[in-house]
Amino acid sequence: MNGQPLLAWSAGCSTGEEPYTLAMVLSEYAETHPGFRFRILATDISTKVLTAAELGIYRAGDVEPVPLPLRRKYLMRSREHHAERVRIVPELRRLVEFRRLNFMDADYGLGEKADAIFCRNVIIYFDRPTQQRILSRLSSYLSAGGYMFVGHSETLHDMGLPLEALGPALYRKINAWA
Ligand SMILES: C[S@@+](CC[C@H](N)C(=O)[O-])C[C@H]1O[C@@H](n2cnc3c(N)ncnc32)[C@H](O)[C@@H]1O
Repeated sequence: MNGQPLLAWSAGCSTGEEPYTLAMVLSEYAETHPGFRFRILATDISTKVLTAAELGIYRAGDVEPVPLPLRRKYLMRSREHHAERVRIVPELRRLVEFRRLNFMDADYGLGEKADAIFCRNVIIYFDRPTQQRILSRLSSYLSAGGYMFVGHSETLHDMGLPLEALGPALYRKINAWA
């Protein structure tokens, strides 16, 4: 694959579980697909969660759903805390760029479009007109044919968005709207 690296955006990333999971999955893919390159942008309104996300320290029990081979490869015992904490290895932490971004801002300040946006379990906190405004703006930052992932309880139907439904919680940007 030549050209620009794939850009995945975790919008409303909280303490970093989603972007680090993406980093693991995409790193695994890259190992078997020479030339595949990617970047991960992770944003949230809260500087508190962003600070925790950058540290990348989690309770060992919370990472159990991650398959064992990935845990062995991408997690290490945390030195800052006792043994029941694990930390994302530095090589993986370096793959995620964390940035503060408020969905209510007029300009998100992104100079590029993402190939995939993960905005899961975030819009449920807003009323419908606000959801519509946020999703419309997020869609404008999605490349033609790019993918939008939302939470399983979130539906984007009848919002007039340039997205087509591909399955539960998964949408794709309609090319004509790029
Ligand atoms: C329930 S968490 C979802 C985390 C993650 N996406 C997931 O599915 O596990 C919702 C996140 O949205 C963030 N959030 C709330 N209002 C926001 C806003 N106006 N702009 C950006 N992020 C916001 C919160 O700080 C919180 O981290």
